[in-house]
Amino acid sequence: MRIKNISLRNFRKFTEISFDLSTRVVILGPNGSGKTTLAEAGALVLGGRSFRTADLKECIREGAPYAFVKAVLLLDDITENAVTVGMDRKGQRKILRDERSVTRRSLVAAHPFVVCTQEDIDMVAGSPKRRRDFLDKIAMGHDRDYIDILTPYLRFVKQKSALLKSGRSGGLTHLNEAAVPLIGEIRRRRRMAADAVTARFAGVADRASVDIAAEIRLPSETDDGEIRARLRERAAREKERGCLLYGPHLDEVHLSLKGRAARLSSSGEIAFGAFCLRIAEASLLQDGGWPPVFIADEIFSFMDAERRAKAWSLLDELPIQTISTFHREKEHRWGSAVQMIKL
Ligand SMILES: Nc1ncnc2c1ncn2[C@@H]1O[C@H](COP(=O)(O)OP(=O)(O)OP(=O)(O)O)[C@@H](O)[C@H]1O
Ligand SMILES: [Mg+2]
Repeated sequence: MRIKNISLRNFRKFTEISFDLSTRVVILGPNGSGKTTLAEAGALVLGGRSFRTADLKECIREGAPYAFVKAVLLLDDITENAVTVGMDRKGQRKILRDERSVTRRSLVAAHPFVVCTQEDIDMVAGSPKRRRDFLDKIAMGHDRDYIDILTPYLRFVKQKSALLKSGRSGGLTHLNEAAVPLIGEIRRRRRMAADAVTARFAGVADRASVDIAAEIRLPSETDDGEIRARLRERAAREKERGCLLYGPHLDEVHLSLKGRAARLSSSGEIAFGAFCLRIAEASLLQDGGWPPVFIADEIFSFMDAERRAKAWSLLDELPIQTISTFHREKEHRWGSAVQMIKL
């Protein structure tokens, strides 16, 4: 899977710009030159959304009525998909694949990719929401049917939340009971994803000769009886407060690096940890027969020269398309196989 070429029209600062892309792309340029914009456009044609904003109107160049990004994606050596993602000022988004309108979900299912940005520092050191999402994405890569567990669980959260807010308690026991097996299954899948990631992370750190083992801890209750008991225990307080207090959407996902809570690590260690988690994600996707595109936006800035070189060599080893942005050029000696886009 790779992006063969990409064109941007009225996308952020660019009126019109296009590139043919090789498998190893490095985007260089000063602040504000549009590096992240190009990385964002790449992720947009693969997954139908921006990694910077939920509001695609922001991506339309000031003064322009609409924007689009167009790309030819190579699924294997011969199969090509032409994908266009367009957006207008009304907030409408249109996705075309080979000139036919498709949903975002079908785009994501067909075009695997991994994005590593400075936001991943939050994934490592911030609140557990991003870590839960990370594990869910890994679990989804392992088995797409996971969506058939997550979707009804999220519906349950919505229904239960509405019921608790309304102050009516009839139907709560029934709702909880239906969610019990979903709760256990989500935790089991996340556990599997966490084990796969930490094992892969160890291999990545080992290859880079960096002493930075990761451990992921999750709530241990996966047994129906235990889950039922916890739901019952919290029922009174949930009614009192009018909100949910228990379930996988609230689970703590504790990440430690080198045996210490990750948030206690240094910025460089956290950035490197985040990068290794994303490399682990890419290598797991690839094992599942889905060679993803790896997009790394400025994650290297927090690392010192030695770590940066190690991170780069990890990226260089990946037999997949990588698109990275840097605002520094001098310190690194790029190999001849690298395509440099200087903005
Ligand atoms: N909708 C828009 N219309 C016009 N210009 C925009 C729009 N959105 C963003 N920009 C501008 O595009 C420029 C490039 O932004 P971008 O984030 O891609 O730069 P960058 O090269 O990644 O910079 P940095 O090194 O600081 O990360 C910025 O100056 C930004 O203000
Ligand atoms: Mg940037």
